[in-house]
Amino acid sequence: MAHTDEEVRSAVRDRYAKAATEGASCCEPSCCGPDSTPGAETISKAIGYTEEELEGIPEAANLGLGCGNPTAIASLERGQTVLDLGSGAGIDCFLASKKVGPTGKVIGVDMTPEMLARARENARQGDFTNVEFRLGEIEALPVADRSVDVIISNCVLNLSSDRARVLREAFRVLRTGGRIVVSDMVSEYAIPTAVAGSLDAVAGCLPTPRADYIREFEEAGFSDVSISGEKPYPASYLTSDPGVKAFIEAHPDTVEEIQAFAASISGAVIVGHRR
Ligand SMILES: C[S@@+](CC[C@H](N)C(=O)[O-])C[C@H]1O[C@@H](n2cnc3c(N)ncnc32)[C@H](O)[C@@H]1O
Repeated sequence: MAHTDEEVRSAVRDRYAKAATEGASCCEPSCCGPDSTPGAETISKAIGYTEEELEGIPEAANLGLGCGNPTAIASLERGQTVLDLGSGAGIDCFLASKKVGPTGKVIGVDMTPEMLARARENARQGDFTNVEFRLGEIEALPVADRSVDVIISNCVLNLSSDRARVLREAFRVLRTGGRIVVSDMVSEYAIPTAVAGSLDAVAGCLPTPRADYIREFEEAGFSDVSISGEKPYPASYLTSDPGVKAFIEAHPDTVEEIQAFAASISGAVIVGHRR
């Protein structure tokens, strides 16, 4: 069953409002974490953050909600302006802040007020004066044309029901010579109907087939689009989703398709350039 844009947006907002107020690791699994729900620090180290990075930012900024560490490969330089799409509690904004320094600027955009409040409090407590969090939807960025050097995003683009629009917006705000570096989930196969029918699974960050991701970046205007750094995703998280489980029980003939799909998922980095 297809969900309306508003249903998806509302489910996503509810899920991340809960993560912001309760902490992800004590309510639901991370989009990249297995169903045994390890703590945020364990998840974040497993997906590429170093101990030193995590120690240098406010602890409350790390909710273990990412799929990778986009700042690790974004090659940020002092003085640059960085935009984080779906900034959550601010983890990647704070890491970027240290790299761009006082002459640079970091803007985080997120549509969930509870996340924004948590991120702003983290910035205040950690005295991150070059970081600004803006309430907004990434499909209509509250950011001026050609004002950003590097866009980063971590486990967010798959949550949008209009990613083509997000990518057009990203292209609009980038300066010539700028780049977008996205950590997200990719797969070999399209999302099976049973999985797409679970609003829980959709709000929890489903993957996009690699070929679709590359095509969408190119259609938005990005050049030299690449996918790299793939790391396997624990398939059990998807197959233990309550909606997916219920569908499998009612339609046992779909189990193989769903398992093959789940086994083809990995976390990856997608990069595109504005020439
Ligand atoms: C999986 S969390 C990732 C948060 C952060 N990037 C991190 O790595 O911790 C997804 C975040 O994206 C935000 N988000 C999802 N869809 C969005 C949209 N269409 N516009 C703006 N923010 C969105 C959610 O509110 C949530 O804070």
